[in-house]
Amino acid sequence: MLKTLYIRDAFKCGEDSEVELIGWVRSKRRHGKLVFLDLRDSTGIIQIAVKQGIADSETFMKALDVGLESAVKVRGKIKRDARAPGGVELHCNHIEVFGPSLDGFPIRKGVGLKFLLDNRHLHLRSPKVAMIMKIRANLMDIARRWLRENGFIEVNCPTFITAAVEGGATLFKLDYFGRTAYLTQSVQFYQEAAIYSLEKVYSLQPSFRAELSRTRRHLTEFWHLEVEMAYADLYDIMKVIEELVYAIVSNLSKESEVELKALDKVVKPEMAEPPYPRIKYAEALQILQSKNVNINWGDDFGADEERILSKEFEKPFFVTHYPKEAKAFYHMPDPNDPSVCLNTDLLAPGGYGEIVGGGQRIHDYNLLLERIRENGLNVEDYRWYIDLRKYGSVPHSGFGLGIERMLWWLLQLPHIRSACLFPRTPTRVYP
Ligand code: 4AD
Ligand code: MG
Repeated sequence: MLKTLYIRDAFKCGEDSEVELIGWVRSKRRHGKLVFLDLRDSTGIIQIAVKQGIADSETFMKALDVGLESAVKVRGKIKRDARAPGGVELHCNHIEVFGPSLDGFPIRKGVGLKFLLDNRHLHLRSPKVAMIMKIRANLMDIARRWLRENGFIEVNCPTFITAAVEGGATLFKLDYFGRTAYLTQSVQFYQEAAIYSLEKVYSLQPSFRAELSRTRRHLTEFWHLEVEMAYADLYDIMKVIEELVYAIVSNLSKESEVELKALDKVVKPEMAEPPYPRIKYAEALQILQSKNVNINWGDDFGADEERILSKEFEKPFFVTHYPKEAKAFYHMPDPNDPSVCLNTDLLAPGGYGEIVGGGQRIHDYNLLLERIRENGLNVEDYRWYIDLRKYGSVPHSGFGLGIERMLWWLLQLPHIRSACLFPRTPTRVYP
């Protein structure tokens, strides 16, 4: 009885081993009495050689006829051959086509980017996409592991919400049985409630932003790793960010070594070794103004400013103490200079820009009320959030890290959408 193997394991079999493989036909070439198929599964690609005379004529005809991306089962002998990709091929003597391709597979060399995005459901089969998705899975796994090992507890928060965390302009509005609700931009406020029972928490779930910005770094739906910690100030949380980012980069360089190499990407622990440079907003503003960027005190940095600024650095770096008008109402004003906040963004070097945003939260009841009013927001909308400051309020801090932003930087992707299985952008909700 033949055992069906994964392609990765077929490469480890001895010469002349009889094996059976299941996969999809990625390509097909004929050289006279020889048909070569490239067979693909989730673990790799192997060359299948079907030779007239060795394979019976029915098998040879099936190899000749099989459509690209058909699902097939093949049997044969493993042979070392320096000319085969990876040095191994299967000399096939039996083919079963159990999932034929009903049409010519539409993804071909040379089709345009729009076509690939419109056919993302099929384009996913490309080995390159598969490798990015494996790296993404490792990244999320490493982040979760690090947080667990460091005493953070995973919490799962709601997606339907009733008031903005990061400003009303980017809320997706929806009808909730006749009431207005929104899709969450961040689970931060729920995490702030959770620290009063769990102290150190994290969540990994989607956030939504109705941002029309068509940049290479904006999605309307992204996966958000958020962390909140009781008894932590700005500098405590910066330390958590630094260590977490380093853990992700250094472990990914090992755990995704095969995929990174195949994609020709360089991810090394040195890229993110702490400590990271720290500059204040005021200093960042000076750098930008010295480069003739037209920006004034109080403006938040956009994609352009961050690109210019981050080209000045070789490692991720913190920008801290943004003016209060540049950021959301919940940031803690700096007691030494209340015009700025105890907040921070972590920017990736080389033009990539913000990958993390966070800082210390206002934990004082009256100060929070004041800032909500100053921002022209409705106190009633934030009643439960304000309530948290009434009972045993403690200093606390947290942050959010965009998973796709992180991958975009680490893999130096041309566009953030390549980091998603099915990207969501202002112009794309299909497929
Ligand atoms: O800086 P942001 O808006 O911060 C928050 O939402 C905080 N409430 C998080 C917290 O403190 N718990 O978003 C955090 C991160 C950004 O640094 C970025 O990496 C990512 O989320 N992000 C986006 N990623 C892709 N597309 C978008 N439109 C994004 N908006 C934010
Ligand atoms: Mg931000």
